[in-house]
Amino acid sequence: MENNLAPEPKIGASREGARLGRSVSTPPRSPRIIDVTAEERLEIIYIGKLLKARYGDYSHPDFISMIHLNAYKMLPERLAKILSNFGTDFSEEQYGAIVFRGLVEVDQDALGVTPPSWKETDFSKLVEYGFISALLHGVVPSKPVEYFAQRKGGGLLHAIIPDEKMALSQTGSGSKTDLYVHTEDTFLYNAADFLSFLYLRNEEQVPSMLYSIRSHGKTNEMMKELFKPMYKCPKDANYATEEAIGDSPSTAVLYGDEATPFIRFDAAEQIFNKDAGQSPEAMDNLKEFWAEAKQLIYNDFIPQAGDLIFVNNHLCAHGRNAFVAGFRNENGIMVKCQRRQMLRMMSKTSLIHIRSVTHPENPYLIMEEHYGQVYKNQG
Ligand SMILES: [Fe+2]
Repeated sequence: MENNLAPEPKIGASREGARLGRSVSTPPRSPRIIDVTAEERLEIIYIGKLLKARYGDYSHPDFISMIHLNAYKMLPERLAKILSNFGTDFSEEQYGAIVFRGLVEVDQDALGVTPPSWKETDFSKLVEYGFISALLHGVVPSKPVEYFAQRKGGGLLHAIIPDEKMALSQTGSGSKTDLYVHTEDTFLYNAADFLSFLYLRNEEQVPSMLYSIRSHGKTNEMMKELFKPMYKCPKDANYATEEAIGDSPSTAVLYGDEATPFIRFDAAEQIFNKDAGQSPEAMDNLKEFWAEAKQLIYNDFIPQAGDLIFVNNHLCAHGRNAFVAGFRNENGIMVKCQRRQMLRMMSKTSLIHIRSVTHPENPYLIMEEHYGQVYKNQG
């Protein structure tokens, strides 16, 4: 029921603040969850089919060049407005992730068994999901891109599938590892601006793990230290052998506006990788920050098939879950099931600002290897 007596408090605004007629905000601790209506879902599924008939593939140049126009014209208006606003909302109330619950319906029979790894993905079954994901990025507005650093590009849509061979080793490890979170591609200056994770299958019932810099509330003294460009991030575990750590650039973890900062952070690589190469001062700061940050990790939402999580990669990090792939817990007994399948898309709001690191013939392919350094001899 709506009443016209008092304006709705903003998301995150406290009741006390609303009562006093001023904006006193409590830091957001969880993503906004949008329940997609049955009607919206039908529209979206129809749009996916229509675009497939019209363009064939979501990477077709004609579709990509028309992505914003199509996004504004075709998407259900309520969802388009939410995402368009999300693209420019960096306020203290903005968590930096939105869950669209029940965005699509996934025909599990048509999807078939989960392939052994992403390499065997049958993309012909995923084309419509690619169009739908691309339109969501398009309406922000942002442009789907691919990164050479991940699967040598590998297309605009990546299937994220736990490797069948890894399932046993994860079973063997037994205990849950620490809840590590990262912003995507922390080791790049030009990491994605926005990410989407569309869940096709999550029979293991793995929770999504999110962490927002906004959950800390006001920037405290410890966080101010993170604005200093003194932190390293290895590009991967082989980093120490490939490059002298001392020569690699250092960056800030927090940047942008001091009161409402953006974040670039990878707990596993920057703190727990023994080859991270941090100075003692940098490591002390990172550990102090992590002690606070890990308390703020949100781990309550369990995505179901058809749910999509849309993330601002400058505000919100996501997690590396430890889970037993291909098994679900039924009353304490581990029962075999289909392994998880998720589709990731990444986007940048400006191709102009990343041109110094994109492929000469493909401005949607980012060739950055490590903090401004570009892959050589890749044609
Ligand atoms: Fe990631």
